[in-house]
Amino acid sequence: MLRLDYEHILSFVDPKDLDRQLGSARNAHRLLIEKSGPGGDSTGWRDILIRRDEALLQDIAETARRIREEADILVCIGIGGSYLGAEAVIQALSPSFSRNEGSPEILFAGHHMSGAYLQELLEYLDGKSVFVNVISKSGRTLEPAIAFRCIRQHLEKHFDDADRRIIITTDPEKGALNTLHTTHGYKKYVIPGDVGGRFSVLTPVGLLPIAVAGIDIRALFKGAAATLARLAPPEDNPALLYAAIRSVLLQQGLSIDLLSVFEPVLCGFGRWWQQLFGESEGKNGTGLFPFVAQYSTDLHSIGQYVQEGQRSLMETFLMVERTGGDLSVPEERGAGSKDLDGLDYLARRSMETINRAAWEGTAQAHTDGGVPNMTLWMQEISPVCLGEAIYFFEHAVSISGYLLGVNPFDQPGVEAYKREMFARLGKP
Ligand code: PA5
Repeated sequence: MLRLDYEHILSFVDPKDLDRQLGSARNAHRLLIEKSGPGGDSTGWRDILIRRDEALLQDIAETARRIREEADILVCIGIGGSYLGAEAVIQALSPSFSRNEGSPEILFAGHHMSGAYLQELLEYLDGKSVFVNVISKSGRTLEPAIAFRCIRQHLEKHFDDADRRIIITTDPEKGALNTLHTTHGYKKYVIPGDVGGRFSVLTPVGLLPIAVAGIDIRALFKGAAATLARLAPPEDNPALLYAAIRSVLLQQGLSIDLLSVFEPVLCGFGRWWQQLFGESEGKNGTGLFPFVAQYSTDLHSIGQYVQEGQRSLMETFLMVERTGGDLSVPEERGAGSKDLDGLDYLARRSMETINRAAWEGTAQAHTDGGVPNMTLWMQEISPVCLGEAIYFFEHAVSISGYLLGVNPFDQPGVEAYKREMFARLGKP
């Protein structure tokens, strides 16, 4: 189960302010659970956990099995909430230098506008057995739409059964993907109308690619559902505490929240968190700017700024109790070997211990440098624990949005760049 350690916050926050915000967080919690707050009709991401659709999970598992048997590559086409969740979970639960057994290579496309990337991808697909999962709730987002047109043509040119290699995940009825579906008869999964993109990782949006990667989607679900149940009572609720602390710090004038991870496989999770918080909070001129840092790598780049730059930062460490690796620093070999690299003081110490010391040292140094920080502990990097973390942050950001007085479930600002871009491209 997740554990929130907020010891390093206490010297920055007046307990009376925190109590007051916790009271408001409890009200916000009631609004979320009763669906009576702004955007209350967009909280279907809770309902899918409360009433688990066994038939859908079975269907996804069956499609995943077919793809795993036949594909060399699955290309997932989508952007924002239509790809970040899948990428987060797959990266966290796959080996860093290979793939889970029996899994095809999983590549992403349509998550930016780079023609060079797309061209290289098309060349890379040549001669390989390719399946495609195109994911777009609206069915009209330009980046995935262009990628899908290019990759669909590749499939139609190279495979007689191109249509059965394409799986679409989209709105129940609306959008261009539904039009294409009607003509081609693609296999289709529906994104529930009451689940927004950034909250959709536990719908077919995330579940199909995750299942193809050989990850236990039921365990992911189990972790999320257990956390929903655990966070149902407002008392002793770490998600409310997390939201309340952030809110107090925002009111003190802080403007940036760093999510810092000490395991590189959690970087994708950080990017998912970044979208979840950025799109949910950043409106009406308020919200903490979310930024992901990978430590200790980034301690050697932005670390200087975090320690001594403008004091506008707070930090959340996402840590793992048991990382699974058992590598230790080796002793120097050979008779008469000398401590030439000066590392003998670490010989036989595990990398987990050393990484833990890096976290402890960083948390203390950042506290001393004026950066309030807290740590969310996952037990391990497993489907259950990732499910727990996914629900924890979804719940917390909803509370946080309500504390800010915004609708956490819309994203009107995303349209602005599209309007400008389409005007330049002469979209009819
Ligand atoms: O969270 C969101 O709503 C957005 O990030 C969308 O997921 C993203 O813009 C992609 O939209 P669509 O799925 O409609 O293509």
